[in-house]
Amino acid sequence: MTATRQILVTSALPYANGPIHLGHLVEYIQTDIWARFQRLRDNTCYYVCADDAHGTPIMLRARQDGITPEELIAATQKEHEADFADFLIDFDNYYSTHSDENREFASSIYLKLRDEGHIHTRTIKQAYDPEAEMFLPDRFIKGTCPKCGADDQYGDNCEVCGATYDPTELKNPVSAVSGATPIEKDSEQYFFKLSDFSDMLQQWLKEGHVQKEVANKLDEWFEEGLKDWDISRNAPYWGFEIPDAPGKYFYVWMDAPMGYMASFKNFCDREGVNFDDYWRPDDQDNNKGNIKTELYHFIGKDIARFHTLFWPAVLDGAGYRKPSGVFCHGFLTVNGQKMSKSRGTFIKARTYLENLNPEYLRYYYTAKLSSGVDDIDLNLEDFMQRVNSDLVGKVVNIASRCAGFITKKFDKQLSAELPEPELYDEIVAAGEQIADHFEKREYNKAVREIMAQADKANVYIDENKPWVLIKEEGREDEVQQICTQGLNMFRLLMTYLKPILPATAEKSEAFLNTEFKWSNIDQPLLSHGINKFKPLLTRIEKEQIEAMTHDSVENTAGESQPDAKNGNGKTRPEAAGGSPLAKDPIADEISFDEFAKIDLRIARIVKAEHVEGADKLLQLTLDLDGVTKNVFAGIKSAYDPEDLEGKLTVMVANLAPRKMRFGMSEGMVLAAGPGGKDLFILNPDDGALPGMKVK
Ligand code: 2FM
Ligand code: ZN
Repeated sequence: MTATRQILVTSALPYANGPIHLGHLVEYIQTDIWARFQRLRDNTCYYVCADDAHGTPIMLRARQDGITPEELIAATQKEHEADFADFLIDFDNYYSTHSDENREFASSIYLKLRDEGHIHTRTIKQAYDPEAEMFLPDRFIKGTCPKCGADDQYGDNCEVCGATYDPTELKNPVSAVSGATPIEKDSEQYFFKLSDFSDMLQQWLKEGHVQKEVANKLDEWFEEGLKDWDISRNAPYWGFEIPDAPGKYFYVWMDAPMGYMASFKNFCDREGVNFDDYWRPDDQDNNKGNIKTELYHFIGKDIARFHTLFWPAVLDGAGYRKPSGVFCHGFLTVNGQKMSKSRGTFIKARTYLENLNPEYLRYYYTAKLSSGVDDIDLNLEDFMQRVNSDLVGKVVNIASRCAGFITKKFDKQLSAELPEPELYDEIVAAGEQIADHFEKREYNKAVREIMAQADKANVYIDENKPWVLIKEEGREDEVQQICTQGLNMFRLLMTYLKPILPATAEKSEAFLNTEFKWSNIDQPLLSHGINKFKPLLTRIEKEQIEAMTHDSVENTAGESQPDAKNGNGKTRPEAAGGSPLAKDPIADEISFDEFAKIDLRIARIVKAEHVEGADKLLQLTLDLDGVTKNVFAGIKSAYDPEDLEGKLTVMVANLAPRKMRFGMSEGMVLAAGPGGKDLFILNPDDGALPGMKVK
C-alpha cells in the first residue's frame, strides 16, 4: 500500500468586520475541494482557518458602531462560520487571530527574531491626525493625486491613473477619520530585516514552491531589493502589544498568518494531533522517524507578497518550516465586471444562500478554476445554463432515468453483472486523469473530463432505451442490466464529483446504499440492494437569479461600495468597511430605449414601517396619485419611519413586482447619497406632486 500523505491546508483569513461575499468564496471553495479530494484519496488533510481580527479598520468600525472590538469580532465570526458551513466548507478548525494561542505565537516568534538580530528600530515620519489623535494608515488619507490631479484618491495609489506614491506626496490631504489635515509626526517603529533572508528566499523560490507568475513577480521584488518591513503600529491600535515595547502593537499583517498556526494549535490540543509534525523546520523532516508533512496556503494574488516573502522569512527566522506551496488564485468578476452594489452583483454569501443551492456555485467555480492566477468570471446566465445542463441534464438524469425501473420492477436489486464492463472500466480509467487534474488544481479540466464521461453514460442509456425494452416481453433482465450499468456509471461520476458536491454525493450514497470511495471504484455494485430514489438537484430558474440580484441591491443599499480593488470586492486592511469617501463608480451604459422603458414617478410616502427581521429595510406604502404601491426600501440607515411619512420620493413605477423574503415589493425607491446616514429623498416643498412623471 502506498504511504498516505499528511497535509495541512489553509485559506486566507477573512477580516472580522465585513460579510463573506461571492468574491471570498472562490478561495474557500477552491481549498475545500482540494482538501476533500485529498481525504477521498485516503490522505490525511487538515483544513484550518480563522477570522483576521486585528487592525485599524476593525477598531474604527467598532467605535463607529458603539461596540467594543471584541463584540464586533465575535459577532462577525459567528456570521462567517454560518456562511461557510452553509456553503459546505468543511474546516477542521475555525478560529480567531485574537486568541491566546496567537498572542503566544506572536510574542515568541517576535522574541526569537529579535534575539537573532532580525529586528531593529528606526524613527520615521508618519501621517498623524491631530483631531483624532492617531497615526493614519495610508488608506485613511485621501487627497488629490500628485501625478494626474484626480481628486479623492487614497494615500498610496491613484485609482484613476494607477500611480503609486507616498501619502506625503498627496495634494490637499485629509484624514478619512476626522476630516482634519494630517500633519507629519516622528515615531519610533520596529522593523523586520527581510534582506537577512534574501538568499534563503531565492533558494526557496528555485525549489518551485510558487506558481511561475508569482515567481516572476518575486524576481522583480528581488531586483528592487528587499526592504525592511515595518511590523509595528502606535497606540491607539487594536491588536497585540509588542512584548518589550509598551504602546506599540504588532501590525495586523504580522500576526495574521500566525493565525494559521494558532488555529492549528487549537485543533491539535483538542484532537491530540502532533503540532510539531507540521511545523518543525524542513531539515528535520524524516529525522528520527519524523513524518514528512506538507503545508499549503491558498490565497488571492493580492496578498502574494505577504505569503511568499515576509511569511517564509518570519517562519525561517523563528525556527519553523516553510510552506510546501503557496497557491494563488485570481479575482472574481460578475458578468464580466467588478462586483457592483448598484448592479446587484455585489452578492453576499447569505443573499446567495437565501436564493440558491450552494452546490451550484461550488460546481460553477470548479468548472472555471485553473491552477493559474487568472481572474474568473461568474456570468449569471452561463451559470444557470451550465448547472442545468451539466448537473441536472447530464449527471442526475442518469440516475433518475434508471432508478425507477430498479426500484419498481426489480425489488431494488441491481443485476449480478454489467452488460458493458468495458465501458465501466473506461470511466474508471478516466479517474486517474481526473485525480491528476484535482491534485494540480486544474479543476476546469477535471470537470471537463467528468462531463465527457457523463456524456458517454448518457449515450449508452439513449442507445439502450430501457423505457422501450420494458414494454417488450421477456426482456426484463436486459432492462435490469442496463439500469445497473447506468447506476454504476452514475456512482463513478458522483465519486469524482464528491469533493465538489458533497451534499448531493451524500444523498446519492444513501440512494445507492454505499459510500463513495476513490479506492474501490473498480468494483461495480452488483447484486446489491439500493434505496428509493429521491430528487437530487433541481434546475435553476431565472427568477431565482433575478431575486438574488434584486436582493443584493436591496441589502447593500445604504452601504458605500467597499474598495473592490482588482474586482474581487475584497477590502484591504486599511479600507475594510469602506472608506467614508469612497465613490460608487458609474454603472455600464444603457441604450436610450432601455432608459425610455423606465417609468420614474413621484410618490408620496403615506406609511413607513420597520420590517421584522430586516436590518436595512423599511416597508413603504406609496401613493402615486391614487395608485398605491407597497415597496421594501433599504433606507433604514438614514431614516426613522415616522420621519418619512408625508415625504415625497422618486420611484421606478413599472418595475415588475418581486417576491421578497418579507413580502411583495412593487417598485423601487430612489434616494441619493453615499450611504449610511446620508441618503436623501425629496421634500414635500420641492414642488413635485404624487404621480408626476420624472423627466
Ligand atoms: O487580505 C485579507 O483579507 C487578509 N485578512 C488575509 C490574511 S491571510 C493570513 F495571512 F492571515
Ligand atoms: Zn492619478
